[in-house]
Amino acid sequence: MKRRLFVTTALPYANGSFHIGHIMEYIQADVWVRFQRMRGHEVHFVCADDAHGAPIMLKAESEGVSPEELVGRIAAERPRYLSGFHISFDNWHSTHSPENVELSQDIYRNLRAAGLVAERTIEQFYDPVKGMFLPDRYIKGECPKCGAKDQYGDSCEVCGAVYAPTDLRNPYSTLSGAAPVMRQSEHFFFRLSDQRCVDYLRGWTQSGRLQPEVANKAREWLEGDQGLGDWDISREAPYFGIPIPDAPGKYFYVWLDAPIGYLASLKNHFDKGQAAAQTDQTFEQFVADPTVEQYHFIGKDIIYFHTLFWPAMLHFSGRKAPDNVFVHGFITVSGEKMSKSRGTGISPLRYLDIGMNPEWMRYYIAAKLNARVEDVDFNPDDFVARVNSDLVGKYVNIASRASSFLARFFDGELVDVGKLEAWQAFEEPRHSQEIARCLEGREFGRALRTAMEFADRVNQHFDAEKPWELAKDPSQRRRLHEVCSVSVAGFHALTIWLKPVLPDLAARAETFLGCAPLRWDDLGAPPARVARYEHLMTRVDPKLLDALFEPAGPAPGTTQPATAKTAGATAGAGGKSAKAAKTGVATGAAASAAAGQAPGAATISIDDFAKVDLRVARIVAAEAVEGSDKLLRLTLDCGESAPRTVFAGIKAAYAPDQLVGRLTVMVANLAPRKMKFGLSEGMVLAASFDDPSRAPGIFLLSPDDGGDAGMKVR
Ligand code: 2FM
Ligand code: ZN
Repeated sequence: MKRRLFVTTALPYANGSFHIGHIMEYIQADVWVRFQRMRGHEVHFVCADDAHGAPIMLKAESEGVSPEELVGRIAAERPRYLSGFHISFDNWHSTHSPENVELSQDIYRNLRAAGLVAERTIEQFYDPVKGMFLPDRYIKGECPKCGAKDQYGDSCEVCGAVYAPTDLRNPYSTLSGAAPVMRQSEHFFFRLSDQRCVDYLRGWTQSGRLQPEVANKAREWLEGDQGLGDWDISREAPYFGIPIPDAPGKYFYVWLDAPIGYLASLKNHFDKGQAAAQTDQTFEQFVADPTVEQYHFIGKDIIYFHTLFWPAMLHFSGRKAPDNVFVHGFITVSGEKMSKSRGTGISPLRYLDIGMNPEWMRYYIAAKLNARVEDVDFNPDDFVARVNSDLVGKYVNIASRASSFLARFFDGELVDVGKLEAWQAFEEPRHSQEIARCLEGREFGRALRTAMEFADRVNQHFDAEKPWELAKDPSQRRRLHEVCSVSVAGFHALTIWLKPVLPDLAARAETFLGCAPLRWDDLGAPPARVARYEHLMTRVDPKLLDALFEPAGPAPGTTQPATAKTAGATAGAGGKSAKAAKTGVATGAAASAAAGQAPGAATISIDDFAKVDLRVARIVAAEAVEGSDKLLRLTLDCGESAPRTVFAGIKAAYAPDQLVGRLTVMVANLAPRKMKFGLSEGMVLAASFDDPSRAPGIFLLSPDDGGDAGMKVR
C-alpha cells in the first residue's frame, strides 16, 4: 500500500544560524523521509523559519534593521547548510508569510466559534521607557530569598529559589534599565482547561501512538494537581507577529502561529505546484484526507506545545490532528551540554568548510540515534573510529577489493548469485527485513549495526576464500568469479540499506553498479556487470577533528565581532585608506590590527586559512551606488541557487560595464553586513599598493582560463 506522508522538523527561530542540534534533527528526519521515498511512498517534507516573537523584534532593533531584514538575512544562509548536509526538504518557507496569516487567523476564528477562546484582564510588568510589556526573560532584580542581585524572574542562580517575576525585589527591565510598573491589559486565552479539550487530549496522548516517555510526560501534565491551564495566546503591540482579527493592537503569541507554519509551508509547497508530481489534490484536500499521515520531528524541550496545544488547536478548529510527533533528545559534545543560543563546539559550517564529508556526520548521527528520547553524544574519537571502521573499512572496502578482480579477469561481469550457497548464507532477506523495520521505527543505530553485521559476513567470506590466491590459479577462475560476484551482490544490498543515510555515496555506488537510482524493491536484484571502480570515500583524518574544535572566531554566518565591523566586510568599503583598499588581505590585516597584531605580519596555520571559503564568482551585474563615490554594487553568481549582492570599493578603478561577465574571487563565508546601501553578502578580492597615489591602484583578482563560478579556491 502506498502511504501518503506529511513530515516536518521543528521550525527554527530566525534570529540565529543553525547549530549542530538543528542539523542532527534534520538528519534524523531526512534519513526517515529518504527511506520512505525509497519504499515508493508519497512524501511531502517541509520546514520554515519561525520568524515571530519579541526576541527577534528586539534583536532586529538592536542591530538597527527591521525584523523582516533580520529574518531575511538568516533565511538567506539556510540553503548552504541544508544542501551541505544533503537535507532534502521539499519546501522551506517562513511563518512571516501570507499563508501563515491566513491559516492562523482561520484557525483562531474557528476556535473562537467553538467557544474555546476566553478574554481576560491580566496584570503584567510594563517597561514605561521602552513602552512595552516585558516578557519574563527581560526582567531582572534581587532574589526575594537571598538578596542576590541581577537574578532572572523565575529562579535564583545563587540560592536556587524558585519564584514569580513579581516576587523580585527592585526589579528592572533589562531593555531600558527602568523599573517596570504593573499594568493591566486584555488577553486572549485558549481554553485548554475546557473538559472537551481535556477529554480529547487524554485520548490523543494515551492511545499508544506516542513514545512511552512522551506519553508519560503528557499524562503528568494532564492529570497533575493543577490540570491543564488555559493558554495565553495574545501579545500587545509592539510585537512582531500576526494581528489578531478584530482586536486592534493585539498579536498572536509566536507559539500560536509557529506550528501553523507547518501548514503554511505545506500550502506554499502545494500552491507553487511542487506537489503536483505526487498528487492532484489541493492543499486543503490533502490536509483533510484521512489517509494522509502527519508527523513532526521535534526536540524534547517542545513536547508540551506539540502534544497538547497543537493537536487541540487543530482538532477544535475542525482540522485533522497529527498522527504522531517523533521526539529526540539533545546533542552533547564529549558529554557537554550545549547552549541553545550558542550551540556546541561544533559549527556546522566550519565542519563543511574545512572539507569534512557531510556523510560522515550523517552516518555517525544515524548510528547513534534510536527511537527513544535520549541525548546523543558526539565524541570525536568515536566519530573517527566509527566512520573509518564501518564505512571505509567494511562497506566501501567490499567494492574496492572485489572490483579489481572483476575488472582484471571478467571484464566487469558478474555471475548470477541467486542460487549460490555463499550468497544464501549471507541471509540478505532477513537482514533487509530487520533493517526496514528499524528504519521505519527510527531505530537507526540498530539498522546500521545490522547492516554492518552483514558487511562483516561478506568480508569474512572474501577473506576466507583468499581471492588473491585463487587469482594465481587458472583452474580456480569460476570460484574467483563467484567470490567476487557474491561480494558485489552484498555491496549492492548494503548500498540500498545505507542510501537513506548516505545519498551521495549511494549515487556514486550506483554508477559503479551501473544501475538506475536504487529503490528498496531493487533488493535481491544485483546487477549483471559493474563499471570501473572509482574511489568512493576517504577515511577521516583525525587532524580534521582538531581543526573542527579549534577555538576560532564566531562561526561564519553569525553576528560579526566588532573588529570585523570596523574592518569592513566589503572590498575597500570599510576603510578610507589604501590599506583597506587592499581588500582581502588588507581587511584581514585591518582586523588583526584592530585585535592588536601587526598588520600583515601574523603567521596563520593552514587550518586558519581553510576557514576562509574562497570561491570563484561571476559578476553578472555591476552598477554604481547612488550616493557613494567609492562603491559598486556587484551581483555575483558563486554557484549557489541564488546570486549574492556584494558592495565593493572599486569604483575608482573599474567602470561597471567592464566588469559584467568576468570572473573574480570572493570570500563566501564572511558574515553578511548591513550597509547604508543594502546588505553585502561577501567580499571580492583585489590587490593594491600601499601608496594610494599609484593609480589606478586596485586590481581585481581573477582565475586563469577554465575557472568557473562556484569553484573553491584553496
Ligand atoms: O523551539 C524552537 O526553536 C521553536 N522555534 C520551534 C517551533 S516548532 C513549530 F511549532 F513551529
Ligand atoms: Zn537567591
